Amino acid sequence: MLNKSRVSVVAALFALVSTLVSTAVYASAEFVPKTVGDVENGKKIFTNGKESTGVPACLTCHGEKALGEDSMGTPRLAGQGYTFLVKQLNDFATDKRMDTTMMIMNSNAKGLTETERQDVAAYLSGLNKGEIKVEGSDLAAVKALGQPVGQTHLGKSLAQYGAPDRGIPACHSCHGYNARGAFPIYPALSGQKYVYLVNQLKKWRDASRSNDMMGQMRAVAKKLSDDDIYNVASFLTSADRTTNGNARMPQQQH
Ligand code: HEC
Ligand code: HEC
Repeated sequence: MLNKSRVSVVAALFALVSTLVSTAVYASAEFVPKTVGDVENGKKIFTNGKESTGVPACLTCHGEKALGEDSMGTPRLAGQGYTFLVKQLNDFATDKRMDTTMMIMNSNAKGLTETERQDVAAYLSGLNKGEIKVEGSDLAAVKALGQPVGQTHLGKSLAQYGAPDRGIPACHSCHGYNARGAFPIYPALSGQKYVYLVNQLKKWRDASRSNDMMGQMRAVAKKLSDDDIYNVASFLTSADRTTNGNARMPQQQH
């Protein structure tokens, strides 16, 4: 008798738990919003630019696979968060962010309509989705360009733990594990090009880039030394996006 009721309590609990689990799975699938934007049109813009407003093809600078180019200081765009990409293009279009590297992105963004910016972001955010081994910069090639490179193990420590004695928070605390991105707000940094990472950290530090909400990145970068910047960029450019033995990538709002 006793055993039987135990069995039914266990069965009831099991039923309850599986209902909760399936509801959670259902709910998370429901609540991941779709990106808005016409992927095909975005691909067209990325590949051909927009002649009527003189916008050159994006791939000439960002690379055919949108992985960025160290020789030009351009960023990887493939797999970056949709909302983040739209924000950057809108910020360039309204001069909230200035391209002081090639002086080109402000006019590029102005040459696209708001809808076209969403289209190109939808195309780019969908590239390399779920990539585990990122294809970052080749640090030997970066060195050959005359750029100082840092020490990866020191950068890893800074990314994971920060430097509490100097008031530097862990990059992971906002950008997610190995800075694989915590969308929609925090961009992916793993797999980003080395030269671009270094440039942006210096721009946040001297506030020549100031389009970060609530000054979050300027506050962090103010405390970084040149060596911190080279070290953390050396680590991030080829940091894995999953933990050892667990290849699952969390489902994220893009
Ligand atoms: C002539 C070269 C060139 C072309 C063409 C170009 N870009 Fe860029 N882009 C750059 C540079 C350089 C930067 C980095 C600016 C900086 O250092 O702040 C950049 C930055 C960006 C960023 C910011 C990414 C981030 O992680 O914050 C986005 C988004 C972007 N470009 C999208 C595009 C799109 C879309 C096109 C085509 C319509 C395009 N770019 C065409 C040179 C170019
Ligand atoms: C308090 C939260 C926070 C922390 C901690 C933080 N970041 Fe950020 N970071 C941001 C936000 C927010 C943005 C996006 C700003 C925007 O909208 O342009 C950003 C953007 C960046 C970018 C520009 C990426 C791009 O594609 O343009 C770089 C590089 C970066 N962070 C590096 C770092 C590094 C390295 C660390 C650790 C030393 C770090 N961040 C710690 C909030 C943070």
